[in-house]
Amino acid sequence: MQRQVDRLMAEMTLAEKIGQLNLLAAGEGLTTGAKQDTPLAQRLDAGAVGAIFGTKSLASARAMQDRALAGSRLGIPLFFAEDVIHGHRTVFPLPVALACSWDLDLVEETSAFAAAEAASEGLHQVYAPMIDISRDARWGRVAESPGEDPLLASRIAVAATRGFQGRDIAGAGRVAACLKHFVAYGAPDSGRDYDNASLSWEDLLSIYLPPFAAGVAEGAASVMASFNAVNKLAMHAHAPLIEGWLRGRTGFGGLVVSDYTGVKELTAHGLGPAPVVVARALHAGIDMDMVGEDYLAELPALARDGLSAPDAGVAFSADEIRGLIDRACHRVLSFKAALGLLDDPFRGIGDTEAPSRLSGRKLARRAAARSAVLLKNDGVLPLDDATGVALIGPFARDRRNMLGTWAVSGNSDDVVSLSDAVAALTGRMPDTAWGANIVADSWLERRLNVHGTTVEADPRTEADLLLEALEVARRSEVIVVTVGEAKEHAGESSSSLSPALPEAHHRLVAALKETGKPVVVIVFAGRPLALGSVAENADALLYAWHGGISGPEGVADLLFGAASPSARLCVTLPLHPGEVPVSHAEEPTGRPFPGVFQKFRTGWLDLPDGLTRFPFGFGLGYGDMRYGPPRLSAARAHAGDKVLLSLTVENAGPREAVETVQLYASDPVARITRPARFMIDFKQITLSPGESREVVFELDAGQFAYPLAPSLDAAEWLRDPGQIILHVGPNSRDTQPVELTWLS
Ligand code: NOJ
Repeated sequence: MQRQVDRLMAEMTLAEKIGQLNLLAAGEGLTTGAKQDTPLAQRLDAGAVGAIFGTKSLASARAMQDRALAGSRLGIPLFFAEDVIHGHRTVFPLPVALACSWDLDLVEETSAFAAAEAASEGLHQVYAPMIDISRDARWGRVAESPGEDPLLASRIAVAATRGFQGRDIAGAGRVAACLKHFVAYGAPDSGRDYDNASLSWEDLLSIYLPPFAAGVAEGAASVMASFNAVNKLAMHAHAPLIEGWLRGRTGFGGLVVSDYTGVKELTAHGLGPAPVVVARALHAGIDMDMVGEDYLAELPALARDGLSAPDAGVAFSADEIRGLIDRACHRVLSFKAALGLLDDPFRGIGDTEAPSRLSGRKLARRAAARSAVLLKNDGVLPLDDATGVALIGPFARDRRNMLGTWAVSGNSDDVVSLSDAVAALTGRMPDTAWGANIVADSWLERRLNVHGTTVEADPRTEADLLLEALEVARRSEVIVVTVGEAKEHAGESSSSLSPALPEAHHRLVAALKETGKPVVVIVFAGRPLALGSVAENADALLYAWHGGISGPEGVADLLFGAASPSARLCVTLPLHPGEVPVSHAEEPTGRPFPGVFQKFRTGWLDLPDGLTRFPFGFGLGYGDMRYGPPRLSAARAHAGDKVLLSLTVENAGPREAVETVQLYASDPVARITRPARFMIDFKQITLSPGESREVVFELDAGQFAYPLAPSLDAAEWLRDPGQIILHVGPNSRDTQPVELTWLS
């Protein structure tokens, strides 16, 4: 393979090499047979495109490949990429939802299914998994993320990479994964999308980088850089992180692509005009330039003349630039070789069959039921098939929002609405009140202008809709009310000042509660929302996210007991929008101090009393899980020893149940402040009614290492001997402690 690449490199002209670094969007694409003279076609004819993303049909991919081969003197093929974020045609729950399953086999399975669908349409690379840790609910891209915890995110990165790539990215039905966005894109200042991240190197190393290290160790073939700057340097120019950490420290040997016009945007970051930022991006290790075409425009002159820009503090000789072009081109060609495209340019374009849509639907439904988190249940759930249900609220009959953000190849016609799902499951049509403009009310209404027609507006007033809702509620035995946000309210460029349920939804739930009937609240959302009084008014509360084509069917299964809830929050739900960013792994401070006056105790003067915290890792089931006391195989150990922590978990309930046993640790004395608790392991088990199981965690000293990093270059991982407190339980709060001492 390497020889093939070297042979091509030896024969290529400078222009041909630069052409390979150009990554374009398909737009309308091309059609076979038609004589087309689009800008894309012209580029293909000139051999000036290395890859294309966003093809919409196999025929178009074939036409573009034909054209590229004809335009390339050496017959170098394109590869095709797409945003396959939570499924391709078969849309699965949002990544943040699927992460709540904590089910790594399921993540692998859905990724493998998405890969097979994508591959059957001629795609070779997917821009996934997105593995940005996010602790700020204002940031709309939480929807695409694995949540707030580095260990969970790392395991998801591994599972998704394995699902997409299998053992070989050139295997049938497999595609190359692209880990994104490198890095700390999920930590923007103020939660505003694209904003820069200012954080300690220790946080970068221990929170934001581990999922990338894990994905790389699993063999992820590519990485996408992020739009933001990290500690003052924009990531598309961040040589210390890309060439230094990613390639130097993790040994990553794959392809790095820019994000959409990310190279061009370096100018707006204040890093210099076009030639300067092109040289900086290439030097930093960005191999392909997505859409901006700045590599194509600037590299020929840079390769001829070199660059001296003292104002930006950079200088490159022409030889150095040519060396960097060779380096990037070699990586692009190696990627194509690994995809099998240098042997067969049409590999993947029409030679793999799509998996059956029916099996996709079944998987999507199971995934949806595994992703919805039951937060409260005063005994009302599961419902009986014969129960008279009033199904109320803006998502009762909704289909389009269920797909969630970043479902570029999804089709809302594939969604079964909640009311249809309930009818199909119970054989009875629920009594439904539909109130679209309850979503459009208050703060959401202002947003309509930002994204166009994002939310269907019901012409009636809120008062009319409430009357209708109460009328339907009166005829029922149990009220199921749907609240939340529209799909456009989460996602890229959809940050929100107020990640909370709209006021109108509070009014709706409060009015329904007044009826005295049990109220089951279902939240459909793309981000963790502060639930406020809705959580208090609910008799049962299910956080269902945007669950994809079968999201509502998964919810119906949970409501009527055809499936048992098992999901656990992968993010802390904020008590109030003003509380974010928030996570379970916060650091201790000197205050509050026992005994001092009230003001020091609450943290927030204006946080309403009595709100329920739904912490990271939290979720209920229909079973009755009982945890025995944790036992250690040794209370004192030396580095190099393995210590076992065991406990018995019993399902005392009447149904089979999945339990996620979580293990946290705190390190009370260290050289720097450590998080008050951090997760070090979790295990998922399935228990039949009455079954007990011994759960065993293996501990080693390495799990307690932490970075000390006065600078990125000077970073070192340390571990001190001493006391560690382990906390084991069903979530990050309700744990039992046990102490362990490392003697060395
Ligand atoms: C911009 C987004 O940030 C990235 O996630 C996506 O893959 C690219 N656009 C391509 O659509």
